[in-house]
Amino acid sequence: MSDPGHPRAAATAFERALIPDTIRMTEHAAIAASRVAGMGDEPLVDQAGTEAMRTVLNDLNIDGRIVIGEGERDEAPMLFHGERVGRGEPGGREVDIAVDPVEGTGITAKLVNGAVAVIALAERGGLLNAPDVYMDKLIVGPPAAGQVELGAPALHNLQAVASSLGRDVNDLTVAILDRPRHDDLVAEVRATGARVKLIGDGDVIAAISAAFKGTNVHAVMGTGGAPEGVLAAAALKCLGGEIQGRFLARNESEQSRLDAAGVDMQATYTTEQLAPAAHLVFAATGITDGDLLRGVKFFGRGARTHTVSMGLASRVIRFSDGVHLLGDGARVHVQV
Ligand code: FBP
Repeated sequence: MSDPGHPRAAATAFERALIPDTIRMTEHAAIAASRVAGMGDEPLVDQAGTEAMRTVLNDLNIDGRIVIGEGERDEAPMLFHGERVGRGEPGGREVDIAVDPVEGTGITAKLVNGAVAVIALAERGGLLNAPDVYMDKLIVGPPAAGQVELGAPALHNLQAVASSLGRDVNDLTVAILDRPRHDDLVAEVRATGARVKLIGDGDVIAAISAAFKGTNVHAVMGTGGAPEGVLAAAALKCLGGEIQGRFLARNESEQSRLDAAGVDMQATYTTEQLAPAAHLVFAATGITDGDLLRGVKFFGRGARTHTVSMGLASRVIRFSDGVHLLGDGARVHVQV
């Protein structure tokens, strides 16, 4: 029997208590966002996912603090940075929360592949409080962790990834956000012989996919959101993968927010610096179909969801297939 006073046992208790709740939250957000997906209405998708996520969060007996959310208080009505969530009753755990109820708002509105609902919960201070600016990122799975370097030529890093996987560079696929700012990077990666998978949105699930064998994503490169970098770090820490990130400022206002947050602009942030947590749980539910997760399917009186969840200390990575019977007393013939 494990000693309940041992730090690892405490971490596992945190995770056991919270993993079912993280799954419930991302499932609800994904179902709500999917209901209004494909309508071309990004604000509607965001509102639906955020409201659903917040409703479940406020039902939990936690003293929660949003550290990565929908933006600052003046720009987001819910799940804004610093918002307190949960019932906060005696005995409720203190947790810091990184959340994106609809990671890939644009692709959800268009019903295009790759959107997910994601959340990470950690002890206070367990997730870097990153301002909503851009971050230059390099992400690899467990075999190549510790062997790549942000800022090094793409060829150097892809040779390291290829050798960690026992294959050639031209057998690799690199996910990069499809943005004009990446034209040079895309050309550089293609010149190595690796294939580039251009994604419309959603570099968190691309990062997680790089840590799983069989997704055909072997690395993620390029500039995306810094908050998404923290979410990716939470999952990659549980999975043994790696993210390296450098914060970028496009203007003075972003620079002053970075300065206020104490960000070192010269530093390359590691997985550990982005997610220093000892107690950490993470879940993602597919909104639309993707490399790792299936999207929400409605079947008349219910919905089916596909979720990956994980805990750092408990070291369990769980894929769950949820059948949600919507409406009272409906008799449903569930397909296996
Ligand atoms: P949302 O969650 O706000 O929809 O962001 C999606 C996303 O594609 C992220 O995955 C990525 O990090 C970021 O936007 C990239 O930002 P931009 O669209 O400005 O290039």
